[in-house]
Amino acid sequence: MKTKEIKAKALNTKKFIDEKCEEIISAVGNGYAINALSGGVDSSAVTMLGHKALGRRLKTYFIDNGIMREGEPQRVAAIFKKLGVHIGIIDARKKFFAALKGITDPEEKREAITQTFYKDVFGKLVRESGAKYLLQGTILTDIDETIAGIKRQHNVFEQLGIDPQRAFGYKIIEPLVQLRKDGVRKLAAACGLPKSIYNRMPFPGPALSARVIGEATPERIEIVRKATAILEKELAGTRAFQYMAILHNDRVTGMRANKRDFGLQIEIRCWDSIDARKAKPTDLSHGMLMRLAGRMVNDVPGVVSVTYNIASKPPSTMEAV
Ligand code: XMP
Repeated sequence: MKTKEIKAKALNTKKFIDEKCEEIISAVGNGYAINALSGGVDSSAVTMLGHKALGRRLKTYFIDNGIMREGEPQRVAAIFKKLGVHIGIIDARKKFFAALKGITDPEEKREAITQTFYKDVFGKLVRESGAKYLLQGTILTDIDETIAGIKRQHNVFEQLGIDPQRAFGYKIIEPLVQLRKDGVRKLAAACGLPKSIYNRMPFPGPALSARVIGEATPERIEIVRKATAILEKELAGTRAFQYMAILHNDRVTGMRANKRDFGLQIEIRCWDSIDARKAKPTDLSHGMLMRLAGRMVNDVPGVVSVTYNIASKPPSTMEAV
């Protein structure tokens, strides 16, 4: 059955929240539900809806995979604490880095992260929670992309490799399937989430491992995490669609303290785009580019080269990995 879209403009947030809460309450009854929160707008909106409907009977977990941006687990937990929502933080950094060890191929990296998340860490929580319902932040675009073959699967139980109904009697609730991103942003604002969540720029599921060309070791992730923190602060005032720092695998010769230094290269990308399908590099001022370069070489250990990407999508993609 085709899902009926609710356009952002037509979305009556109060009516939507009331209806979705009722649907969740009538589905879950007196039982428990579970969900994973990443801090992105979709999972944040679902968490708010679920907690409005179920309170403590929704168990929400934030899985710290070690490849998030600086201070992310604490930041997200603090935001939800302010809203009266308890989040369980699971430290799974070792498991994710073990799964990423030795992998350099982009798709293999994605697969390692997906498998570790669904089969191991979150899968285990789901199985042990006693919850019969799982809340997911699937949106209409995810379904379109799944059907078009762009995304492999959007259904967590397919990821787990089980038939939820037959194996456990699990049911999935996807309250956002009628919405696209702009609608979810409007809903998230209406749920009381702060602008830092509902207006946040896109960030890929494979997180900082998508910003490291080659192996995503804890040390290399730490370098790109520092570069990302600097870039996000410096470019916060731009109206760009998305910006990112990428750590290259190749080293280049530089010099430090009058000595040759075979150092690291950071590539900066900053995109103007409407919907990520096409994108052009933002026309950043030369002054801003010089400032970014200065901060990267001074504040990120080992960096001797900084470049700005000037190719458009297509044929480039927005991410480098
Ligand atoms: P590309 O690189 O395909 O990116 O031009 C388009 C948009 O999608 C995001 N992106 C991803 N998001 N998992 C995600 O959740 C991924 O593997 C992934 N790859 C790219 C990217 O950040 C951009 O907004």
